[in-house]
Amino acid sequence: MSEQASAPGESRERRERSSRPAETGPQQQERRLAEKAARRRSREGGERARASEEGTVHLKVFRYDPEVEGKREPRFDHFHVPERKGLTVLDALIYARDRFDPSLTVRHSCRQAVCGSDAVFVNGRQRLACRTQIADLEEPIVVEPLPHQEVLKDLVVEMGHFYDQMDAVEPFFQPDSLPSDPLEEQRQSRENREAIRAATRCIWCAACTSSCNIYAGDDRFLGPAPINMGYRFYMDEREGSDARRRRLAILDEPHGVWRCQTQFSCTEVCPKDIPLTKHIQEMKREAVKNDLKFW
Ligand code: FES
Repeated sequence: MSEQASAPGESRERRERSSRPAETGPQQQERRLAEKAARRRSREGGERARASEEGTVHLKVFRYDPEVEGKREPRFDHFHVPERKGLTVLDALIYARDRFDPSLTVRHSCRQAVCGSDAVFVNGRQRLACRTQIADLEEPIVVEPLPHQEVLKDLVVEMGHFYDQMDAVEPFFQPDSLPSDPLEEQRQSRENREAIRAATRCIWCAACTSSCNIYAGDDRFLGPAPINMGYRFYMDEREGSDARRRRLAILDEPHGVWRCQTQFSCTEVCPKDIPLTKHIQEMKREAVKNDLKFW
């Protein structure tokens, strides 16, 4: 039997009705009630969906869990979180974890840009989740783990290599001598304090190293944060002479300061506004000065 062509402009509902077998009165009544209920459900569903998205922010969060079957394939999950004044990316992630999916994993601790544990990649840039205001971002807000680091789960990355590089520059004070009285201060001039002030702000968040193209391709490169840490102690006038010499030798290596190509990406993303590229260049100058010989 050939399919009957419909007249132009004939509604779909009318065509469906004409193609149905003849119905008895009670059947018609039953069908109409079912259609009405379906229409109401669909209208209410739409309103609920709109209500749940109005006044909310749309988060698109990277998910990956190598230990759970079915979650080994990286993917993005979408969360709609109620918006409020002062909401940060970390607040929104915590809300999504507490209300929608307890398996969503993100490192955090202080929630005030001090511990450095919640650096993530938000809308294509390394940022501290606790310091990033939702109101300043375009939606959907895409939250991913720090690039160039091994992902352990969701937004959590392996930090072992970064900490090893930090340890390599001996990030602690090693004066030649200590005052005989333990209560006596080791005084520092105002000028020297001012010179290293910015370098002392590092919170070991690894946003800078994650943004560095050189670091991504050379895992022996110390990276911006460890070089900044070397700078902080090398430039401190209270530091011991042996420690200064040793630290400069560590930085003056092919995979030390000389690998930096002054791309400034580290300086751009640093959440503490440390002029990292400048500090790296200053250590290059110190290395050159140290190698100059005058006969
Ligand atoms: Fe500590 Fe963000 S939670 S720096």
